[in-house]
Amino acid sequence: MKFFLDTANVDQIKRINDLGLCDGVTTNPSLINKEGRDFKEVVTEIASFVDGPISAEVTSYDYENMVKEARYIATWADNIVVKIPMTEDGLKAVNTLSKEGIKTNCTLIFSVSQGLMAAKAGATYISPFVGRIDDMGEDGIRLIRELREVLDIYGLESEIIAASIRTNKHLEGSALAGAHIATIPGSIFEKLWSHPLTDAGIASFKKDWEAFENRGK
Ligand code: G3P
Repeated sequence: MKFFLDTANVDQIKRINDLGLCDGVTTNPSLINKEGRDFKEVVTEIASFVDGPISAEVTSYDYENMVKEARYIATWADNIVVKIPMTEDGLKAVNTLSKEGIKTNCTLIFSVSQGLMAAKAGATYISPFVGRIDDMGEDGIRLIRELREVLDIYGLESEIIAASIRTNKHLEGSALAGAHIATIPGSIFEKLWSHPLTDAGIASFKKDWEAFENRGK
C-alpha cells in the first residue's frame, strides 16, 4: 500500500519524506488555504522534492473552466495530478483530460456508483472519503472494500485513494479492504507509528540497562 500525505505543509511533508514513507501528496482548497501561501508556489515546491504524484485541485465547477484550469495546473510539474470534484461536469472533464494524457484524481466520492463512474470516465485515481462517510453513520471501510471489488471485477485501472483518514482504524481498515493508497494528514502519522506498549517497553529496557551498567558500582 502506498502512503500519500494529505497536507500542503512543506515541513510535515519533508519530515515524513525523510522516513521514506511519502509516496505522494494530496492537497485541496481547504489545505492550501490553511497554509496561507500562493497555490502554484506551494504545489511546485512540494512537486520539486517528492518523488511521486502531487494532487492539486481545480477551483472551478463548470466543465469549460475546470478543463482550462486543469490544463494549466498540469504544466506546473511532471508529477502533477489534477483533482476534479465528482459531478457531471467533473466526469466530463475527467474524460477529456484523460484523453489528453493528464492524470486526474476524482475526489469527493461517497458511493460505489460514483467511484465506478469516475473510473469508467478515465480517472487515474478515485478518492472515497472514509471519515466523512463514518460521520454520516455509515461505513467508510465497507465502501473501500466494495469499490476495490468492483474495480477488480471489471478490470478498471483507477487506483483507490482512501481519503479523510483520521484514525489508526481508518488506515488499517483501508489497507485490509484493498485501497491502493491511503492519503494521511501529517498529524495522524505520529499516531500510526506510536504505541503505548512500545513506549513502556523502551522505558523498561532503559531501566534494566542502567541497572546492568551500575552492577557492582
Ligand atoms: O483528503 C480529503 C481530506 O482532506 C478530508 O478530510 O478529515 O476533512 O474529512 P476530512
